Amino acid sequence: MQRLGIYIHWPYCKSKCPYCDFFSRVQKNVDQKEIIKGYLADLEYYRSLNDDYKVESIFFGGGTPSLIEPRYIAAIINQITSLWSCSDSLEISLEANPNTNHNNLFSDLKSAGINRLSLGVQALNDDDLKFLGRTHSLSEALLSIDSVLHNFDNHSIDLIYARPDQDRQSWQKELSMACSFGVKHLSLYQLTIEENTVFARKGIKSADDETSRNLYSMSEEILSEHGYSRYEVSNYAQSGFECRHNLGYWRGYDYVGIGNGGIGRLHIGGKLYNTFYPRQQELITPKERAEELLIMGLRVREGINKSCFSSQCGINFANIINLQKMHQFCQQGLLINTPTNLTATASGNLVLNYLIEQLINL
Ligand SMILES: C[S@@+](CC[C@H](N)C(=O)[O-])C[C@H]1O[C@@H](n2cnc3c(N)ncnc32)[C@H](O)[C@@H]1O
Ligand code: SF4
Repeated sequence: MQRLGIYIHWPYCKSKCPYCDFFSRVQKNVDQKEIIKGYLADLEYYRSLNDDYKVESIFFGGGTPSLIEPRYIAAIINQITSLWSCSDSLEISLEANPNTNHNNLFSDLKSAGINRLSLGVQALNDDDLKFLGRTHSLSEALLSIDSVLHNFDNHSIDLIYARPDQDRQSWQKELSMACSFGVKHLSLYQLTIEENTVFARKGIKSADDETSRNLYSMSEEILSEHGYSRYEVSNYAQSGFECRHNLGYWRGYDYVGIGNGGIGRLHIGGKLYNTFYPRQQELITPKERAEELLIMGLRVREGINKSCFSSQCGINFANIINLQKMHQFCQQGLLINTPTNLTATASGNLVLNYLIEQLINL
C-alpha cells in the first residue's frame, strides 16, 4: 500500500493580515454545516479513485482552520478513518490562530481528534505583532501557547523574521523566548512581500539580504543549542517531532487536497494527477514531476535521493540536471553530491531558488 496524506483547507480568517497572500478571506455567517457536507462527499469521491492507499497524516491548514467547529473536525476525521486504512500512528495536525482562542478551544480540538497543534504566533513582542497586523497581543499569544502545551504532546509555533529594521539582538531575544516554551517544533519564515498584499501596496520592504542571511544563520545556531535540528529550510524540530505530513509532501508522496484551496497529487490508474477543486484532474508530465521533485527535495536536509527521484518521475536524475552547474555549485560549497543524494548546504539554502533555476536542464 502507498502512503497518503490528506490536506483539508479552510479558506476563512477572522481578519486578513497585511503580508499574507494565502487563499483566504474574511466572511461572516459561513455555513459550516453545508461546507463540511461537501468536504465529506469529496473525501468519499477521492477514496473511490484509488484503493491502494494507507493514510499517514491529516493536516487542517488555511486560512484559519481553528475557526471550524470541533464537532465538524471530528466528523472529517471520522470520515477519513472510516473510508481509508490508516496508520496506527496517524498524525493529525491543525493550524490555529491565537485570535480564535477561547476557554476550551484546545481541549475541544484534542477531543475532536487533533494530536498536533501548530500555532501562528508570528512575533514575540507587541510592537511587531501590531506591525504585522495581528489581532492578538503578546500576552494573548502566551496564554494560547500555555494552553497548547497543556493539551498536546506534539506542538509547533510559527514566527516571521526579517521584518523591516529587525536587528540581531531583538531576534535573539525572541528566539530564546521561543525555545524556552518547550514546544517540539518551530517554523521560522522569512518575511516575503507578496504582490497584491497591503504590505506590497504600502511599499514595505523586508530586512535587506545581508541582515536576512545573518538572522537565518543565527536562528540555526540558537535553535541547535536548544536541541532543535533544522530538517527543512524553515522548519526545526526536536528529534522525532518533524512534521510527517509536510515531510511526505516534500518527499513526493501522494496526498488528497480538500476544499477550494486544496490541491492534491494522486495516482489514478497508475498515472499521477494534479487534483484540484472542484474534483478536477490533470495529468502531470514526467518533466513537470521532475521539476517539482527537485524544488521540494532540495528544501529538506536529507536532500534528493536520486534513485527515488528516478522511480517517482520516470526520468534518470543525471538527464534532468545540468551536471556542469551541479559540480560548480558543489565546489562553491552550496551543494553536496554523494552517490545516493544531492543536498543543499546551509549556504545553499540561502540561494535555493537560484540554484534550482540553474540546475534544471529542461
Ligand atoms: C497558512 S498560514 C496559517 C496560519 C494561521 N492562519 C495564522 O495566521 O495564525 C501559515 C504561516 O505562513 C506564514 N506566512 C504567511 N504569509 C507569510 C509571508 N508573507 N511571509 C512569511 N511568512 C508568511 C505565517 O507564519 C503563517 O503562520
Ligand atoms: S496569516 Fe493566517 S490569519 Fe492571517 S490572513 Fe493569512 S491565513 Fe489568515
